[in-house]
Order: sequence, then C-alpha cells, then structure tokens
Amino acid sequence: MGCRKRALLFGLAFIFLGIDHVNGDLSYSIPEEMKRGSVIGNIAKDLGLDLGRLSIRKARIDTEDNSAKYCGINLNTGDLIVQERIDREGLCAKKAACVLKQELVLENPLELHRISIRVQDINDNSPQFKEESLQFEIQESAIKGAQFMLDEAHDGDIGENAVQDYSLQQNDHFQLNVKIKGAGRKYGELILKKELDREDKKELMLLLTAFDGGSPQRSGTVVIHITVLDANDNVPVFSQAVYKASLPENSPLDTLVIKVCATDADDGIHGEITYGLDHVSDEKQVFSLNSKTGEVKVSETIDYEKESSYEMQISAKDGLGLASYTTVLIEISDMNDNAPVIFMKSFTNPIPENVSPGTEVGIVNVQDRDSAANRQVRCSIQQNVPFKLVSSIKNYYSLVTTGQLDRELESDYNITITATDEGSPPLSSSKTVQLSVADINDNPPVFEEQSYSAYVTENNKAGSTLCSVTARDPDWRQNGTVIYSLLPGDVNGAPVSSYLSVNGDTGVVHAVRSFDYEQFRSFKVHVMARDNGSPPLSSNVTVSVFVSDVNDNSPQILYPNPEGNSFMTELVPKAAHGGSLVSKVIAVDADSGQNAWLSYHIVKSTDPGLFTIGLHSGEIRTQRDISESDSMKQNLIVSVKDNGQPSLSATCSMYLLISDNLAEVPELKDISYDEKNSKLTSYLIIALVSVSTFFVTFIIIILGVRFCRRRKPRLLFDGAVAIPSAYLPPNYADVDGTGILRSTYNYDAYLTTGSRTSDFKFVSSYNDNTLPADQTLRKSPSDFAEVFGDCDDSPQFHRFEPLWDPAER
Ligand SMILES: *[C@@H]1O[C@H](CO)[C@@H](O)[C@H](O)[C@H]1NC(C)=O
Ligand SMILES: *[C@@H]1O[C@H](CO)[C@@H](O)[C@H](O)[C@H]1NC(C)=O
Ligand SMILES: *[C@@H]1O[C@H](CO)[C@@H](O)[C@H](O)[C@H]1NC(C)=O
Repeated sequence: MGCRKRALLFGLAFIFLGIDHVNGDLSYSIPEEMKRGSVIGNIAKDLGLDLGRLSIRKARIDTEDNSAKYCGINLNTGDLIVQERIDREGLCAKKAACVLKQELVLENPLELHRISIRVQDINDNSPQFKEESLQFEIQESAIKGAQFMLDEAHDGDIGENAVQDYSLQQNDHFQLNVKIKGAGRKYGELILKKELDREDKKELMLLLTAFDGGSPQRSGTVVIHITVLDANDNVPVFSQAVYKASLPENSPLDTLVIKVCATDADDGIHGEITYGLDHVSDEKQVFSLNSKTGEVKVSETIDYEKESSYEMQISAKDGLGLASYTTVLIEISDMNDNAPVIFMKSFTNPIPENVSPGTEVGIVNVQDRDSAANRQVRCSIQQNVPFKLVSSIKNYYSLVTTGQLDRELESDYNITITATDEGSPPLSSSKTVQLSVADINDNPPVFEEQSYSAYVTENNKAGSTLCSVTARDPDWRQNGTVIYSLLPGDVNGAPVSSYLSVNGDTGVVHAVRSFDYEQFRSFKVHVMARDNGSPPLSSNVTVSVFVSDVNDNSPQILYPNPEGNSFMTELVPKAAHGGSLVSKVIAVDADSGQNAWLSYHIVKSTDPGLFTIGLHSGEIRTQRDISESDSMKQNLIVSVKDNGQPSLSATCSMYLLISDNLAEVPELKDISYDEKNSKLTSYLIIALVSVSTFFVTFIIIILGVRFCRRRKPRLLFDGAVAIPSAYLPPNYADVDGTGILRSTYNYDAYLTTGSRTSDFKFVSSYNDNTLPADQTLRKSPSDFAEVFGDCDDSPQFHRFEPLWDPAER
C-alpha cells in the first residue's frame, strides 16, 4: 500500500487520493509542504453543495480550537486550498498518523462538516547528528574487538524517511556495526579490528555517514575524532649501547664528560626518563650523573695513576619503571702531572781523596708515575763537579768520579742530580747530595821559605831566639799537624843539638849556647817538619845561622911589642928628609868590619913636631928634615883604636934613635922611660939585635928580588915594612888602604901592612889553630887546607881572593 500511495503522491499531487464520507465528514490525504493555494479537494462537489450558494451561505473553514487555519475555501470553485504551510514534522513530529482537523461552516442554514486532512510525510529532512564531532579517547592498549557505541543520527522524517543506515569511512583500525534499538532506531558501533599505536598515530579522524530511506535518499555526516591514549608500552632506548669517552686526568670538577641520551616513545609520565647510575658498591663515585639530562660530569679528582679507565652502567627508567641500560666507558688519558722522583739507593760518603777515577760513589734511581713519554726520564748532574752519571740498568744510574779528587782543593761537593721527563711540558726535579772527601795523608809539610837565615850577634845569651821556621801541611787534622825537629848533624865536630834547638810545635829556633864570631861566622843546620799522619810525611829546610860581629876584641899591636919594655928601637938616619918613612905601627883586630877598622894616633912624643903617624896606615914619618939640634932619642906613644861602638884601643911605645950608626947607641938602657935593671935586659938586647938583623936582611932580600923583576931601583926605606907571618892573627877584616869597608860578611880577607904605596901585601897563612873565615860546618879544621879549592861549593861564602900571587909577579 505504502508503495502505491507514494507513487500516487508523486504523480498526482493535486488529486484527491480518497474521500471518506463519515457521517457527512470529509477526509483528504495530502503530502506535507504543499504550496499555498494548492487544491486539496473540491468540497462543494464532495458534499454536493450548490456552488452558487456557497458565498451566500458564508462558507468558511474553522478550527475547533481556533488554532492556525491551514486551509481555506475558494468560494467560486468550492475548492479546499492550502492556506498555511503544512509541516508534518511540525504538526505531528514522530506520530505515525498525522491528521489535521478542520471544519467547514455553512450558514443559513447552519451546517458543519468535519474535514480530516491526513498529512502524508515526505522526505524533507536529512539525518542529523547531535554534535558536530564525536570525541573518543581510546587507550592504545585496547584489545581487538573492543566496541565503542556511537551516538545515533536523528531524522525528523518518519518511517522510511527516517535513518535507515550508517556507513564509516574506510580505515585500518575500525569497522562499523549498525544495531537497532528497541524502538527500531538504528545506531552504529565502532569495533576495533586492529590495535591502535599511539606512537604511530596519535589520533584518527573518521567520517560517519547516516542515511535515511527516503527517495531521494538524504544523508548526514559526523566526524569521529579518536584520540589514542598512551599506554606505557615502550621502554626507554639509549641512543648507543655503549658510550665511550676520553678524559684527561686532573680535569676540573664539573667537566662534562659525556651525555647519555635515552628516548621513550611513550607520552607523559610514560615517557619521562630518569637516568641513574648503577652502583655496584658504595665506593666513592668519581662521576656524577644528572638524572634529568643524562650528563655525566666529573665529581672527584681524576688520577690516571690510580685508575686509567672507568666503566659504568647507566639506567634509564620511565615513570612507570620500565628501564633499559647502557654502558659508559671512560678512558682517562695521562697528563704529565708527576715529576720524576730521585732516590739515592746507595751512597758512599765520605770517600777518600785517593780513589781512582771511575769509582762508583752512589746509585741513583729515578721513578716517574706517569706513563709513556711522560715516564721517560733523563738524568743529569751539574757540569762543574768531577762526577758523572752513568746509565746502567733501566732507570738506574751510577754516580762515578771522573777525575782525581783532592780534599785540599775541594773537600765538599754538592752534587745536584736533575731528572727531567719527556712530557710536554716536561717536569723535572732535583736532589742535592752532599759528598765529603776524606783526607789521605798525601801532602808533606812544606816550608814557607826555601831556606831560612838567622842572624845573631855573637856573645848571645843561651836560649835566645834566632828565627822561626814555618811549614804548612794542608792535610786534615793529624795528617796536617806539623812537628819540627832538628836533623842530626854536627857543627865543628860537635852535635848540632849543642848549638841549636827547635821548638817542635812552633818552629822557633833557639840558640843553645853563646856563639863567638871569631870562632865561626856561620853554620847550617837542617830542620825537619814532619806531619802526624801514618805513615808520616816530612820535608826539611836549611837554616843558615850567621853570627855577626861585636866589638869584643881590642886592637892587638904586633909591632912594636906592646909590652913596651923591650928595646924595639928604630934607627932614623940623620939625613932623613921630611916625609921619610921611619917606621910603622902594625896592629890587628880580631873583630871585623868597623870593629876592625883601626886608626892610629900619637898620643905623646918627645918632640911633637917631628913625627906624624898615618891615621890608618900606622906609618910613622918625619914631618920635617932632621936637624942637628934634635934629640937623638925620640920616644912616641901610639894609640891604636878600632871603629867599633864603643871603640876599643891599645897603646904602644916606639923608640926612635936618630943616628946613622947602630954603634952610636951607647946607652940603650937610657932610652926606655921606665928602665928596669932586669937580668933579661942583655937577652933582650941580643934578641933585638938578632931580630933587627934578620929583619933588615929579609927586607934586603925581598927588595933585591923585587928590584930585579922591576928593574927599578928603590930606596931602602921607601918600601913597606914586612911583618913575619907568625905575627899575624887569624881572621882579619879587610881594611884596605882606602879605608873603605866592604860588607860585614865579606870574607875577602887579606891583610895590608902599609899604605897604597906599599909594594907588598901579606897573605896570611893559616895554621891549624885558626878558624878560617870560610870554614864550613861540615868540615873539620884538618880539612881546611882544601877549602881554598872547594870554596865554590858553598854559595853562602864569597870567594877567597888572594890579592897577591907570587907566581903572577
Ligand atoms: C753545599 O750545600 C750546603 C747546604 O746547602 C752549603 O752549606 C755548602 O756551602 C755547600 N757546599 C758547596 C761546596 O757548595
Ligand atoms: C789521615 O790519612 C790517613 C791515610 O793516609 C787516613 O786513613 C786517615 O783517616 C786520615 N786522618 C784524618 C783525620 O783524616
Ligand atoms: C832533606 O830534604 C832533601 C830534599 O829536600 C832530601 O833529599 C833529604 O833526603 C832530606 N833529608 C832527610 C834526612 O829527610
């Protein structure tokens, strides 16, 4: 029936579908939404009313309840027409039968006819969803087959025109299941056919379409917005399974070493990662981990020498405790932070100075805690010491001497050993060892001077200090302690010790006795200096002692006899002119130098004007010609003084007889001032005469020889007076005619007896009882004869020069 009616409605919109006469009631059926003015049906005809009378009878349409007038009547045609829009949905909503009740009122006579207008539905509404979109939040963990009810769509139309079906946009995860509620209303259900993955797709948009059954069909759509909710279905994942980092040691605290990074695909708390260190033990942690950022930082001093690498387990956990792990390997690289350390493994101190070069003194060991090149160490010592380092085994060195040591030059060495590694920059350290050189008695005492001379005036006191010798020994303590002693020997046949002594500690040389210059003028001794080492070393030095003269000897008058009671009478020829030499006083002085420089004075004379005496020659000359009136006997008293301080003197008397003939001397007795009638007188006269005779004879012989050589005639008395050698005392100082003194220690001893005019000089001849000037200490007096030849041996002494050599003349 429905189908047929619908066909009719479509085809014949203005045709009455059926007229029901129910007790004069009219019934019509119309589709809704007809245009105004559309004819519903012809009432007049259906009721059999007279058309012409309709207006007269005031035909009109009323409603029971004066509600809206949907219909009107065309009084001319009698047609019931649509006056207001008729919307079935507005009038009847979901009621299946929608009848509009109208009444036709006719007056004169009053007539009421009920008109029922059945309003037929047309598909004029589309299915509609209540909301613009459907929001769903679905856990990604939802299992397959899970159902999610969808809001149904609404359609104002009814019946076939209402919602008949749904369709869902094609997608991977869901399918649609359309279900019917009790009232026959249809709704959809989403069924999960494939699990969701939030990490893959966080949300889905699906279009749901609802269809009605009208013709033409109408549809409405809605968007299903599905938000996939996270489930903690992902573990954190580290970006690397193993993290490797390299870090130099001694990196400052808080240095960033490495940053580990884990990601968790989950969302929110499920993806919140917390890093943690897996402590195996509760040892101090060298590194710290930032639990949020994953940064690994230095938290303790890092020492390569303690630990060269670290391995750590780091975990990453998400909010619900899913965890994964990674390993962090940190290699520590070495820095040159350890200086080499020097150890003296053995050390010989002190070492004796006589060790041979190359002797090992000590063993040095160097160590460096660093590694590789930082550990390579070179070792050296300073340049200016006689030692060197010899590399023996690895890192061991021998300290050996390179030269001869000498404690006296350098007794202590500070040896600085420097070790430098090959790091960059290199580190070095040094160690100073003090080495002492022990003494060996290798230096003999050495005298400060090559020889010593001591000058002492004769007649010194026994025990007086002569000189002092000093020897030095640079050795140590007793090896350098000097003891002085006299070397045994003899002086003039007597042991040295009877002359001198030396203080063993101070080296002061003392005289043991008084010396006599006239006995010996010098001698030599040897003083030895010996150290106290074992064995001792010694050396010796010559000490020359020079005795100097003191004026302790008076002049000694040899001629004339100083006794004065002998008859030493000189003959003076009466014809002698002024200036004639008549005699000579001969004197000697055992002293030397000034002490032996003699001067002659006439202190008293018979005739003061007649004779003079040469101040230094002692020659007595006439001052004027002898006259007849002069007394025949002349008497002179001559004083001889030396030049010492104070000077010493001697006097003698000289008897002169002015006569040409010895026979004219009648009263020799009378000549002497204090003549004594001695029995010896006659002997003396005889002696005098014989001596005079001998003397004159001797002079004549000498003069003769001299005269023959020079072929030059000489006056008898114009010569020198010769003195027999027997008169000569030893050791005359040299006073030559000019009176000029030579050095005090000039041993050119010769004797002159006269003035520069003298032709003769006497060389003294020595007998065994006299000590010659150049006698050395080593020689006994009996050896003395050789001295003249040997005197060169003794440089202390001047050469003995005989001034007169008979062979030369
Ligand atoms: C060695 O060193 C010590 C102490 O530093 C010092 O007293 C001494 O004079 C030094 N010796 C030498 C020979 O340099
Ligand atoms: C002296 O030298 C000897 C070796 O000649 C040595 O044995 C000794 O120790 C030295 N004495 C001192 C005090 O140095
Ligand atoms: C004294 O020294 C000399 C060299 O200076 C030496 O030849 C001599 O033997 C030494 N004499 C003694 C007794 O030591």
